[in-house]
Amino acid sequence: MYPSNPIESIRQFHQELTTLRRDLHAHPEIGFQELRTSGIVAGSLEALGIDVHRGIGKTGVVGVIRGKEHTSGRMVGLRADMDALPITEAGQSQYCSTKPGLMHACGHDGHTAVLLGAAKYLAQTRNFNGTAVLIFQPAEEGLGGAKAMLDDGLFERFPCDEIYALHNWPALPPGTIGINPGPMMAASDKFEIVIEGRGGHGAHPYQTIDPIVVAAQVILGLQTIVSRNVHPIDSAVVSIGSVQAGNPAGPSVIPGDARIVGTVRTFKDSVQALVESRMRVLADSIAQAHGAKAELHYQRSYPATINTPRHANFVADVATELFGVDRVVRDLIPSMGSEDFSFMLGVKPGAYFRLGQGGAESGTLLHNSRYDFNDEVIPVGGAMFAAIIERSMPLLER
Ligand code: NI
Repeated sequence: MYPSNPIESIRQFHQELTTLRRDLHAHPEIGFQELRTSGIVAGSLEALGIDVHRGIGKTGVVGVIRGKEHTSGRMVGLRADMDALPITEAGQSQYCSTKPGLMHACGHDGHTAVLLGAAKYLAQTRNFNGTAVLIFQPAEEGLGGAKAMLDDGLFERFPCDEIYALHNWPALPPGTIGINPGPMMAASDKFEIVIEGRGGHGAHPYQTIDPIVVAAQVILGLQTIVSRNVHPIDSAVVSIGSVQAGNPAGPSVIPGDARIVGTVRTFKDSVQALVESRMRVLADSIAQAHGAKAELHYQRSYPATINTPRHANFVADVATELFGVDRVVRDLIPSMGSEDFSFMLGVKPGAYFRLGQGGAESGTLLHNSRYDFNDEVIPVGGAMFAAIIERSMPLLER
């Protein structure tokens, strides 16, 4: 027999979790500096009688809950991220950020509250056969906190059989769960191309090697990677975010070099390698054709976040059971954004899913200065996490 829907029990903590979420929102902390936040997390877990391990991946915290039964020997991990972004909050809520230039613009305050809600329910009920590992990770926003926890021996100390995480999603209605049995988010790479020419007088361009003209051709050349080289059924993005050359105060000066900086997003290793190699060939050969030199610095940051189909289908089944088929999107279109839960999914099977929270229609998207986590969906996320534990490690039939 499956246990009942945990949402009714978690709703009883809704007010308390909302208060906690808003307190975190008012006191945002940037990656690896989540001292207050991780202190609150650790204190809350300890108050629930949960074993707490601090300082994993600098400011990360892990809570361990043993089920009523543990003959299964199974261990399932749930992850929430805790960090904020360097954005000045434009919202006017009573609990808006008290720190200028810092805010919870991605809802990690909500993710933390959601996992604490599941923790409270699971610690009180323990209706599962195995061990639940609650992973509160630092520094998801670009600093690789998930990788820091792995490097600190997360899965050696807590050898999870499978892992799950959620992220709020303004483009889905509140209370809807979205998932895809494969790619969820892209790999995110940074690149910089430095073109070295020979500067000189704008009146005598024949005496120079103009890096700006070369850069312009490289920029156009890069547009052919996705359109002409990547298989049309595969996905990739090559975007240039910055072009720097010369000085606006020197209209008749041809500069000596130019710099192009951008991002590449892909889902497959083979596509990622293709983009990098085409970029190198294009930059080199275009520069060479003009007597200039191009240097490509290509840096792989977060890998693609790819769900294991079995575990993604399991999450979709749990969501359907809890909330009904109309509240579940099983084939959510992947995002070209990136997520460092990918490092964890690189070593453990599992799934990453979306918790619909609405807001996209009014433009309050993730990383927007007016973004705010929707507290209404805390019990929905908490019930998902709790039910994943109960259903993946069911008590033996009695
Ligand atoms: Ni986020």
